[in-house]
Amino acid sequence: MKKYLLALDQGTTSSRAILFDRDQNILAISQRELTQIYPHEGWVEQNPMEIYSSQYAVMVEVLASSGIDPNEVAAIGITNQRETTILWDKETGRPIYNAIVWQCRRTAPLVQELLDQGLGDHIRKTTGLVPDAYFSATKIKWILDHVDGARERAAKGEILFGTVDCWLTWKLTGGKVHITDATNASRTMLYDIHKLDWDDTLLKALDIPRAMLPEVRSSSEVYGYAALPDAHIPIAGIAGDQQAALFGQTCFAPGDAKNTYGTGCFLLMNTGTRAIESKNGLLTTIAVKLGDTVQYALEGSVFVGGAVIQWLRDEMRFFGEARDAEYYAQKVKDTGGVYLVPAFTGLGAPHWDMYARGCLVGITRGTKREHIIRAAQESIAYQSNDLLLAMQRDCNTQLAELNVDGGASRDAFLMQFQADISGCPIRRPVIRETTALGAAYLAGLAVGVWQDQDELKQLWRCDTVFQPEMDDATRKIKLHGWDKAVGRSLHWME
Ligand code: G3P
Repeated sequence: MKKYLLALDQGTTSSRAILFDRDQNILAISQRELTQIYPHEGWVEQNPMEIYSSQYAVMVEVLASSGIDPNEVAAIGITNQRETTILWDKETGRPIYNAIVWQCRRTAPLVQELLDQGLGDHIRKTTGLVPDAYFSATKIKWILDHVDGARERAAKGEILFGTVDCWLTWKLTGGKVHITDATNASRTMLYDIHKLDWDDTLLKALDIPRAMLPEVRSSSEVYGYAALPDAHIPIAGIAGDQQAALFGQTCFAPGDAKNTYGTGCFLLMNTGTRAIESKNGLLTTIAVKLGDTVQYALEGSVFVGGAVIQWLRDEMRFFGEARDAEYYAQKVKDTGGVYLVPAFTGLGAPHWDMYARGCLVGITRGTKREHIIRAAQESIAYQSNDLLLAMQRDCNTQLAELNVDGGASRDAFLMQFQADISGCPIRRPVIRETTALGAAYLAGLAVGVWQDQDELKQLWRCDTVFQPEMDDATRKIKLHGWDKAVGRSLHWME
């Protein structure tokens, strides 16, 4: 039995490769930063060739540095920044335009056109998404509209579309395999998450030929073989990064949830085989597809999470290292009544107000830098809690516990405050590389390294549980203050 799993984690800012053994030990990690291209205000692009070459390089590096024989790798799992859109020439393998990154806002007018055609409800019901430029659909249309002859060639199947997982799989298999998995398809705003097929109404509205779209497969099966210099390794697991983290956290049952604390935060809750339509502005998305079984999730994101700490460091110059925030926050016993709402780019779920802006309220003559730092830390937890509350309302359940990962989950002060303000235990795993671990799990399941999800459940190891310690009355007062502060932020630019 082959012993190792290779996870390729192609994120927004870097390409990473992590080698795991079957006991989940990390044998080696390799990482390369990715160039971000900003051609205009609000536009974000990347070079698809760099996405591939950096991912290929770290894959080879991680194998070389671990010293293992690549033939001992049982399978590769791919996880990726979602929604980012690549179109390429099937014959030459060359991209016909840069990758349009999920953060890019250029296609907002195209979304407005869809809304003007009365397709808002259709999009929500069919794709589970809130119509937005974030998703791939309008990005594909933009490239087809702007590259000469692209639409005609796409109709003949000569130009292909893929999200990053699809592009990497196509490249790694030498152009043999044009597929994506259901989690990635569910982020395109073209995929019917109930019928599990591309949606003809949206394809027609955007004039996107079906012939250019990948086949949609499960998240765990052998899709093809990656040709490495001295080995052919099956690619056997694919999931978008947030769904991979949910899987890596072994959130397999309805009600299981995870929050990833990065620059922003992504909170996902498994809702089982039921796709729940949110009444609170959350997204309905595919959590995983195993065999023919689809599990769904509710998803919400905090736009400014760890980024508020970077803002205090870079713009306010309150400290030199982001990790110092934890130290300063604990120099005071509370925020002294100060609230910071970091609505720098508006607010997402459950408020959805693009005209909201940041605010700092409750300042007195006694307010110190430490109070503001603490308020910034707490704002990350308050915003995550707003998402949790929305999920609980949508599902009519009380969350039993929340699993956490991502850079800022190392911050014990923040994790304890999250437990306190949400009134639920926060579980931090030993392996916080849960995104990569999820991809490895999916690949390992497909090739029999692990038998089933029960076995994975046994393997998952908890590092710390943060129990809620705050009394209900204090929690209520603090939440009331937060809601009042958010009220000051809303509609600011209107
Ligand atoms: O939806 C966007 C998300 O997949 C990006 O994740 O970790 O690459 O910023 P990340």
